[in-house]
Amino acid sequence: MGMENSTRADRPIVLPVFASVPELDPEAYDRLAREVRTLLGIDLSMYKPAQVWRRVNGFASAKGLADADALVARARHDAVLKQAFADMLTINVSEFFRNPEAWDQLVAQFLKPMLLGQLSVRIWSAGCSLGFEPLTLAMLVREIAPNTPVTILATDLDETALTRAQAGVYSEQQMLGVSPLRRSRFFNKRDKDWEARQELRSMITWRRHDLLRDAYERPFDIICCRNVVIYFTEAAKTAMYQRFCESLRPGGVLFLGATESIPNVRTIGLVPAGLTFYKRP
Ligand SMILES: C[S@@+](CC[C@H](N)C(=O)[O-])C[C@H]1O[C@@H](n2cnc3c(N)ncnc32)[C@H](O)[C@@H]1O
Repeated sequence: MGMENSTRADRPIVLPVFASVPELDPEAYDRLAREVRTLLGIDLSMYKPAQVWRRVNGFASAKGLADADALVARARHDAVLKQAFADMLTINVSEFFRNPEAWDQLVAQFLKPMLLGQLSVRIWSAGCSLGFEPLTLAMLVREIAPNTPVTILATDLDETALTRAQAGVYSEQQMLGVSPLRRSRFFNKRDKDWEARQELRSMITWRRHDLLRDAYERPFDIICCRNVVIYFTEAAKTAMYQRFCESLRPGGVLFLGATESIPNVRTIGLVPAGLTFYKRP
């Protein structure tokens, strides 16, 4: 596809360093987890406490607040802060064609053979953020097979991200990964921004879905779950990969982020299939 190898979204997220991030205090953490569940609907029980604690306190400090308790107290009455708090916890950084070499492999090894050999194809973008991933899939699908019936389920925990994804409007900066040819074929120019055309959007169904709590649909030919599990505990990740395996049809493929892998993959019922792909035999 002639795209660069390293991508902006994969540069490490640099948080400001705060001299005074407190030690993890189990009682305060339990309090935080309870409040976050009530206030934001996010279940922290399957997230790594040390990382969440560091991020939350770093975020509180950046907002001029003393600690996690102060942050929660303010967020109860401040809608803008509440949203920023949720965004910080869920981290929805993403981009079109993130890790181009992985998309090249998806196309050559899995997507093209499926599109050319099957009557229809069903794909799930789990943790779709602002829609870059499902729209990347939709562009590739239409380039390979303009007429094959394809449905893409795009889900995320974060409703604000989903609302923005559904609008399908992206800034010049967000469009960096999209070539001029693809822009002219799949997007309309809207003042300074770009709007995804109906041809792509009509392939995608958007839905709020929590990977840690909600039922998984099935069957899918391809499941993309990339850069979502950074803060999940190992047990939560294993349970999730097991459920993905059950949601794949035999021959279906799970597509992970560039730095992600499944250590005990065969016990889950999947087999490695190159770079960051796992196949259900
Ligand atoms: C860093 S983005 C990844 C976006 C895209 N998959 C990519 O690789 O560019 C992570 C997304 O995962 C979502 N997420 C985090 N926890 C989740 C959960 N438990 N269930 C569903 N989505 C979740 C976040 O809201 C965020 O939009």
